[in-house]
Amino acid sequence: MTQTATISADTLVPTFESLDEIGEALTRRGSALYGGEAVTQLAHALQCATLAEDAGCSQALITAALLHDLGHMAGQGDDEQSAHSELGARLLARVFGRNVTEPVRLHVNAKRYLCAVDSTYWGTLSEASKQSLVWQGGPYAADQAKRFISQPHADDAVRLRQWDDAAKVSGLATRSLAHFIEIARGVQVKHTRTE
Ligand SMILES: [Fe+2]
Repeated sequence: MTQTATISADTLVPTFESLDEIGEALTRRGSALYGGEAVTQLAHALQCATLAEDAGCSQALITAALLHDLGHMAGQGDDEQSAHSELGARLLARVFGRNVTEPVRLHVNAKRYLCAVDSTYWGTLSEASKQSLVWQGGPYAADQAKRFISQPHADDAVRLRQWDDAAKVSGLATRSLAHFIEIARGVQVKHTRTE
């Protein structure tokens, strides 16, 4: 990794340079538990990607589903709770295009959107997800929700969010990490620019 991307103007974060680095990070750090849930980070990622593939979505969105919480694995401390989606998008920006990084970046705010437009949604969230919603800013007001969904890739982020919410089942069978890495290989972007 190289120190190139930033969360804010004064915060440097590492950026993955290749899909191989990303796969290694998933393998190395994926054994940690996923927040307050009953699954590991890697199991959660594989469940989310399996749900996306079963839904027949694009390879880019399957890849985003697999990698949407990479910022959790790379982050440190409480700050990652609110910033992990932004961090994840930055981590992926040299390997993937916006069809992958934007659903990742927007998937936390998609929860705030869904709470605003679906009165039954909040009640379906896990306790850990309800708690993190508070840290993440709570449900959007109507005008915020309208602005959110008008952004490019916000609809994909909403789909990703719903798989994310469902991908917390202990012991659920999924396809393998190798299977999803091959899908990701098909959508990665070649960067020739160096910084
Ligand atoms: Fe997640």
